Amino acid sequence: MNWEHPSPAARPRVFVTRELPSIGMQKILDSCEATVWPNRLPPSRSELLEAVCGCAGLVTLLSDRIDAEVFDAAGSDLRVISNFAVGVNNIDLFEAKRRGIAVGNTPDVLTDATADIAIALLLAATRHLKPASDEVCEGRWKTWEPTGWLGCDLVGRTIGIVSLGRIGAAVAKRLAGGWGMKVLYTARSDKSVEGLASCRRVDLNELLANSDFVSLHTDLNDQTRGMIGHRELAMMKPTAVLINTARGGVIDQDALADALANKRIFAAGLDVTDPEPLDHHHPLVGLPNCIILPHIASATTDTRNAMAEICADNLIAGIQGQPLRAAVS
Ligand code: GLV
Repeated sequence: MNWEHPSPAARPRVFVTRELPSIGMQKILDSCEATVWPNRLPPSRSELLEAVCGCAGLVTLLSDRIDAEVFDAAGSDLRVISNFAVGVNNIDLFEAKRRGIAVGNTPDVLTDATADIAIALLLAATRHLKPASDEVCEGRWKTWEPTGWLGCDLVGRTIGIVSLGRIGAAVAKRLAGGWGMKVLYTARSDKSVEGLASCRRVDLNELLANSDFVSLHTDLNDQTRGMIGHRELAMMKPTAVLINTARGGVIDQDALADALANKRIFAAGLDVTDPEPLDHHHPLVGLPNCIILPHIASATTDTRNAMAEICADNLIAGIQGQPLRAAVS
């Protein structure tokens, strides 16, 4: 499909770093002169810097690093960055603010899809779904065994939610409601979550020591980079399972590989890694007790359509100097 708009005159120029679902794309084309990066792989740095020149707005993905160099290359017309993601660790927010460039993201609409993937990873990791399925598919499975593929039960266990926000709360509600789990969480202040009868705020050390399963939901920033390392993994129960649907950089991946290989924790389920994709020679890849997905938590049709609409609305509002539908503060 050719997304170049036929009558570009006097319309604000925007660069869209990858084709979005058409519901958002159409909104953008209705009011902007849009150039859309046509390839499946992202533009290189030099291609990005060239493409943004003279743009009033950019639609970016979490894989695009947007910083002072990009703002300089875009020039003084740039008014808004609309990120097709809830996380904005790919954007230099300080620099955007300093230059008066608005930044938008896509919160709320991806909460349920992301929580579902956290649950899927938890089930997969606790019950060895990946290596068990591989055994069948590769013709290695020979017979049903009373002690084969033993996993752990979920009912009545304790889930630790690191950084209870919208997605963490959705995970906690599913596990408390469906599996009767007790909920521990970290947050800056006490939170009451509608639909969650009881949960207890604790510090990270207490959460790690007392949770059967730990699910990470924190932003990636200077304070949280590498927050789960050797020390933290050593505090977890040897039967614990670690789930990450936040950002790969929150975990020290070498420390995690070491803990998993040496059975210091039971298993891990990761939707995110650092970098993405992770080098397939990395020690985490291929460990039977580590399942890794290609960052698909928000990948449902309805969710991606809703994200595309918010993303387009943010872009258009920002160009017009209006408040964004979802602004990053
Ligand atoms: C996905 O990781 C997002 O931040 O939307």
